[in-house]
Amino acid sequence: MNITVFGVGYVGLTTGACLANLGHTVLCIDVDQHKIARLQEGKVPFYEPGLQELMSQNTRKGKLSFGTSPEEGVKFGEVIFNCVGTPSMENGSANLEYVFSVAKTIGENINDYKVIVNKSTVPPGTARKTAAIISDYNKTRIPFDVVSNPEFLREGNAIRAFNYPDKIVVGTSSDKPLPIMRRVYSGRMRTYLPIVETDWETAELIKYANNSFLATKISFINEIANICDRTGADIKIISMALGLDYRISPRFLNPGVGYGGSCFPKDVKALIKTAHEKGYDAKLLEEVDALNERQKKMIVTKIKERFDHDLRGKSFSVLGLSFKPKTNDMREAPSINIINELLAAGAIVRVYDPCAIEDAKKIFSDQVTYCASVEESVQGGSAVVLVTEWDEFRSINFGELAKLMEEKIIFDGRNIYEPELLKDEGFEYIGMGRK
Ligand SMILES: NC(=O)c1ccc[n+]([C@@H]2O[C@H](COP(=O)([O-])OP(=O)(O)OC[C@H]3O[C@@H](n4cnc5c(N)ncnc54)[C@H](O)[C@@H]3O)[C@@H](O)[C@H]2O)c1
Repeated sequence: MNITVFGVGYVGLTTGACLANLGHTVLCIDVDQHKIARLQEGKVPFYEPGLQELMSQNTRKGKLSFGTSPEEGVKFGEVIFNCVGTPSMENGSANLEYVFSVAKTIGENINDYKVIVNKSTVPPGTARKTAAIISDYNKTRIPFDVVSNPEFLREGNAIRAFNYPDKIVVGTSSDKPLPIMRRVYSGRMRTYLPIVETDWETAELIKYANNSFLATKISFINEIANICDRTGADIKIISMALGLDYRISPRFLNPGVGYGGSCFPKDVKALIKTAHEKGYDAKLLEEVDALNERQKKMIVTKIKERFDHDLRGKSFSVLGLSFKPKTNDMREAPSINIINELLAAGAIVRVYDPCAIEDAKKIFSDQVTYCASVEESVQGGSAVVLVTEWDEFRSINFGELAKLMEEKIIFDGRNIYEPELLKDEGFEYIGMGRK
């Protein structure tokens, strides 16, 4: 099938490359000419494991190409994926201007029956509005269908998430596009793969409910970890015990420095706003959001308490900057809040991340020192602050590191280390809900 993808961000590029890999011929369109130029040179503009190889293979085979002409994009695909961004607005609502601008372009240029697939995360009612916009601009009354097909991929694991999804949600207003959607995904259909076929609004809300539930789980376990800090209980053991209850599941029960990224914070806020617009106060979600904001500061509170509230001139090695491992994505990364708070308290900050240094420079400019290794970052420092749990940080030789540091303290924002082992190496260990 000929498929067009609008928007080559994390979702659009992964979707385009993976659909091409299933055998479709895919044209990806973006308004960002610089991004498209890089892609045409064969370079993925962000870090996602395996994506560079997948993209190169499929462009070589002529299955995947890139362009900036929306008109050409609309005419090319019998199926058009809309994967543009839906960032938070100042008031927490999802900004739908990019989604609707693609809808307008489709309406203006539609030349044949099309299935328009909305992959972006959007509030209930957006597919309905998208269909109305396309109809408004579609003067020749060419038939089309809009499908809500929210994306559940996880950055850092996006290709696997595409190929082995837990579910595919397909929301429609008629049965007509369903066989087309089954053909789109036929290469990755498994007999055991649940396809949830439903209406537009339910499909749209599934995505928000999914992310809000995961965010709730994180805020919940952070809350319990904070209580552990005050009672002497050990969150690691509590999380393990909770996870053994099959009704709970062990995933997303690791406390930390708060959730970040381009999805959880904005999706929780957007759902609160949507509910509010419909006259409902989503009190639980408001608390989840507020708790997360508080959690991002929790580790700095611990640091300040440990140094008697005087961080002036103290040097901290911040390990990990991206919002999670295996990505360079800095959107809403907790590292931003943590570093800004340390700087505001007069601390010296030296940072290291295996992948996100260039992106971090756009945020912190010359306020921090960018280092090329863990060892360089800890030179003469007072403490290590582990913010993002990259694999590389799990196997640090702390015995060697200790020789480079002035004081030997580790603030483990992700609980990846064993306190006893670090204590054996002469370190003072401060974790989240455990000592
Ligand atoms: N990133 C994730 O992990 C993830 C996971 C699931 C769902 N989502 C959702 O998917 C959507 C996209 O997320 P993302 O992280 O890929 O965003 P992104 O910001 O990385 O990419 C969006 C792209 O859309 C392009 N764009 C904007 N307007 C356009 C237009 N009119 N025509 C063509 N291109 C246009 C931008 O230039 C940009 O390249 C969002 O709604 C997001 O919530 C993201």
